[in-house]
Amino acid sequence: MKDRVAIKWMETVDSTQNEVQRQQDGLDNLSVVAARNQTAGRGQRGNRWKTRPGENLTFSILLLPGRDGIPAIPAGDQFVISEIVTLALHTTLEDAGIPSKIKWPNDIYVGDRKICGVLIENTLQGGMVHSSIIGIGLNVNQTEFDPEVMNPTSMKNLTGRTFDLQELLALFMDRFRDELSKLTQRRITRVRYLSALYRFGTLHSYTDCATETVFEGKITGISQQGLLCVEMPDGIIREFGFKEISYII
Ligand code: BTN
Repeated sequence: MKDRVAIKWMETVDSTQNEVQRQQDGLDNLSVVAARNQTAGRGQRGNRWKTRPGENLTFSILLLPGRDGIPAIPAGDQFVISEIVTLALHTTLEDAGIPSKIKWPNDIYVGDRKICGVLIENTLQGGMVHSSIIGIGLNVNQTEFDPEVMNPTSMKNLTGRTFDLQELLALFMDRFRDELSKLTQRRITRVRYLSALYRFGTLHSYTDCATETVFEGKITGISQQGLLCVEMPDGIIREFGFKEISYII
């Protein structure tokens, strides 16, 4: 791994995910594209990611596993990318005095409010992860949000402080590289992910998206493939994929 990562700051772009995709062939492993303003920021489930220009971190990282000293990642283990990214975010926030939780698979929450969203887009080749574009939207200095954004909060809302965006991004990348260096310690990473998991081990309401029914369940763990294991009202543990369960908050 190189000593430093290249961070390219752009004034305006449609989406840093799209920009990394477009430039991918000319970018080094762990290159970062950050934008002060995104005109078509993308979120999970086809949603838009809209934040105020210049007030937050919106950036994407190109990760090429199996090169430059970074271990290869089999396709079946790709959830480890969610784990290391969210753990690096969790630690970065902890360093700023903010106690956060990871809402499976890769949102970051403080209490019942979302402070950060992550969009991971992987390409697979020969049963391995060939490339991963990791997009992160961290609410930093914005204090008021569009009413259509569900339960938002920001670092400034929580601490009253204004953060330097470039400094914060550099701190996050240090944390991310720390996590990458421990990529092969899968069991320890899983334990740390579970210990930071939102709603782990306690009873809460969810919607089963297939039947549109509400139920009370308890998150008991994460499967090898990264599915959410939930103890159902009848005591049976069920595994849910990302689009199969929705949290009632
Ligand atoms: C979510 O829906 O929670 C994921 C949001 C991810 C947003 C980030 S902002 C930087 C990168 N560029 C995008 O277009 N999306 C991601």
